[in-house]
Parts: sequence; C-alpha cells; structure tokens
Amino acid sequence: MYRKTLTAILAAGLAVSSGILPAEAGNNAPNEQSDHAFDNKVIKKIDSENMYEHIEVLAQQPREAGTEGEWQGVQYIKEKFESYGYETEIQPFEFNKGFEPGTSSISVDGNEFDGDVHTFTGSVNAEVEAPLAYVGLASEEEVSEEVDGKIALIERGQIPFYNKIQNVLDKGAIGVIMFNGEGSTGNQFGYTYDGQDIPAVAITREAGLELIERLAAEDVIATVSVEGAGYITGTSHNVIAKKAPHPNKDNGQIVMVGAHHDSVSNGPGANDDASGVGAVLELAKVMANTPTDTELRFATYGAEEKGLVGSYHYAGSLSEEEVDNIVGHFQLDMVGSRDAGELIMFTPDGEKNLVTDYGSAAGARVSETVPYGQLGRSDHVPFFKRGIPAALFIHAPLEPWYHGPEDTIDKISKEKLQDVGEIVGAAVYQIARPDTPALENANVAPGPVEYDFDDRPL
Ligand code: BES
Ligand code: ZN
Repeated sequence: MYRKTLTAILAAGLAVSSGILPAEAGNNAPNEQSDHAFDNKVIKKIDSENMYEHIEVLAQQPREAGTEGEWQGVQYIKEKFESYGYETEIQPFEFNKGFEPGTSSISVDGNEFDGDVHTFTGSVNAEVEAPLAYVGLASEEEVSEEVDGKIALIERGQIPFYNKIQNVLDKGAIGVIMFNGEGSTGNQFGYTYDGQDIPAVAITREAGLELIERLAAEDVIATVSVEGAGYITGTSHNVIAKKAPHPNKDNGQIVMVGAHHDSVSNGPGANDDASGVGAVLELAKVMANTPTDTELRFATYGAEEKGLVGSYHYAGSLSEEEVDNIVGHFQLDMVGSRDAGELIMFTPDGEKNLVTDYGSAAGARVSETVPYGQLGRSDHVPFFKRGIPAALFIHAPLEPWYHGPEDTIDKISKEKLQDVGEIVGAAVYQIARPDTPALENANVAPGPVEYDFDDRPL
C-alpha cells in the first residue's frame, strides 16, 4: 500500500510538469541545477574518493564466495557500516560449490558394464533395477507410459537435459542412462535439477548404440547405481546495515540499496563489483546523518557469481510485511569502469518501475536522464521476483576486462563513480526525505522526466 502512495506522489509530480495540475509560475524547472536544491545536502557530500578507497582495499585480491578473500571483504564492509553508526548484521548461508560424482555403475542382465560411467551433476544416490526402455531423444512425444517403472535409455541432443529427465520422470521412469549425441565423443555430460530425484548416468554413444541393438533383439534388465555423489557446499555471507527512520516521522516504508561483494575466482573484481560496494558504503555514510521518514537498508550480497545465491537468500528471508514495505531496491553492479559505456537501469521484465522512475529523474537533475532496458543477471532479480520494484544500475556496453584478471583498480573512473553515487543518492533521498510530498511541487525537487527504453548491446 505504501507503493501506491509513492506512485501517487510521482503521478502528482508528473501531472504538474505536464501542466495538468497548477504549478506556481516559473517554479517548475525540475531539471535545472540549483544551489538551493533540497538534495544538495546529500549530493554535495558524496565523494568518489571514498568509493575509490573502498575499491582499492577490496580489490587487493579475488573475493570468490566461500573463500578467505570474501570473508575479509565482509569484515571490511561490516566495520565500515558500523563506523558510520549502522546496526549491522552478517547473514550466513550455504551455496553449492561443486559436485562430487561419487561412483556410478551400470549392469546389464547381471553383467557389470565395463565402459566408463559418468554421474550426472545433481544425480541422487540410489540403486535401481528394472527393464530398460529406449525413448529416443526423450521429447514429450517420444516418451509414453511404457517407460513407467523402467530405466530410460535416452539419446543426448536437441532438447535440454532438464526436459528429457522431466519427460521420463513424468511417465514414471526410475532411472536414466543417457548416451552421447551424434558426432560427440566421451561421456562427461549431464545435469539433473532440483526436484528431479532420479539416479542418472552418462555413457558414450558407442555404448548406447550397443544397448539399443541388444534391446532390439531381447528384453534387457538393467541396474543403475550411484553412490557417494552430492553437492559440496560452501558458506558465504550477506552484510546488511539498517537505519531506522526518524521516530516521529516513520512512514513505514523501506528503501534498499545493494551490491554484491563476491567476485569471480580469477580476478580481483574491482568493477565487478567492488565498485558497487564502494558506492553502497559511500551512500550509507552520507545518509547516516540525514534524517529520513523511511527506513534505509544497505546490503552487500555474497555468492552472486554462483547464481545470485546471497540475494535469493536475503529476499527469501524477508517477511510478507517487509516485502510490502520495501518500496524499491537499487542494485549497483559494475558502476565504475572507465572503459564501459553509459549508465542504464535494467529491470528483469524490461518495464519501468518506481526505482527507474526516481533514477531517471535524479539522473536528469544530476547529469543526464538515464534510460532503462531489460536484463536480469544480478541481485535485483530476487527482489523483483518477490514483487518489489527493483533495477540494476550498470554501465553498458561492458568493458573488456569483465570477469577477468584485469578487472583492476587502475580501470576505475572516479567520474563514473561520482555520477552514479549522486544519481542513486538523489533518488533514494527523494523517496526517503522526511518532507515528501511537501516539496514535491517546489522548484528544487527533481520532477519526473520522460525516459526511453534502450535495447543496448552489452
Ligand atoms: N555484474 C554481472 C552482471 C552482468 C554481466 C550484467 C554482464 C550485465 C552484463 C554479474 O556479476 C554476473 O556476472 N552475473 C552472472 C549471473 C549469474 C551467475 C546468475 C552472469 O551474468 O553470468
Ligand atoms: Zn557483478
């Protein structure tokens, strides 16, 4: 319901700027720089030198999730938040680091198969014995009830592993043997996914074709056995810093600003995403002494590079009430590369939302109107999936150092950091300042602007 309120505020602003509602003469120049602008006290305090220093410290080493490098980053971030006066929480969670294949084997009519058997990543541990049924590529059309209670022999190719396994599971198969596709050698392939609880193994094409031949001549009883397989988990951490609103002015709303602090293994991740963390820390510092009527939450997530694991964990840990009260999540990921393109705001569905509305208006006020586009691939996704307006602030096209060892501090532009810091700071303050909406129609507030969809290449 708070979201509605904000949208209404914004709509009122739009109505003013489009002349639908009366505005005082000469007052409505939202995009002009003004020394008296209400948000100058925030914007003027933002200092990219501070962001740069954070990046310099964080990017001394890779911060792959679950490693000592990440943990040191987490400690640094927590200490900084606390030094600004924030109540800070470290939230641990597990993620999948790898898969231990254990040992898998097949037997045919009681004789152990002597070729190499590969365990599908994600396979459950089990031993099953049943008639073998060949189901071709295991498309929906090919798989019939005939496979019920049997072990499915499947050819690799054309449709994803997920669909093949699901199609035979849906028809009651109890085990899977998959052989390689035409023109492919070896047997190191295959995945099962969450909920596909079936032992699944891979063999070479040659071995698969032999089994088909045998099946053509007679019924075959097979066993599939997988033991000792399982995911290897690691522990990563989110860092969350909260600032309560002014007690007399609490409107129940929450605004979030996030970044991910983990990096890939083979690079120090100066831009991806120590830059976002640097900006989050600087915004937290500036906002620490700024009264608001809105709760502020600054978060850095772990294991983003392992599949947005930290942000899924955090978003999943929010209560329904918190979800209702969070009016927006600003995600800062790769916001400082001197070699990347211009700023853009990406949403998972390619639609505008409250975050992009405020971001574009603040952009117009600070430097340039920011366009929006469609992309997932970062920590805004889990918030979006819970129905929270969320957007990823990033420069595109990307720099060539992305995910490599050369994503280092020397490629970081203080100008880019300053611009993003000011834009996100102004947008967050516009939502969180205690006098909203009293200042909404004043000449100093950034009014809504028109901004375009940009199908920009990455
Ligand atoms: N910073 C990137 C996201 C990104 C990459 C945005 C390229 C725009 C263009 C992020 O850290 C990343 O690499 N994400 C992963 C997502 C995945 C592990 C779910 C990616 O895109 O591969
Ligand atoms: Zn990133």
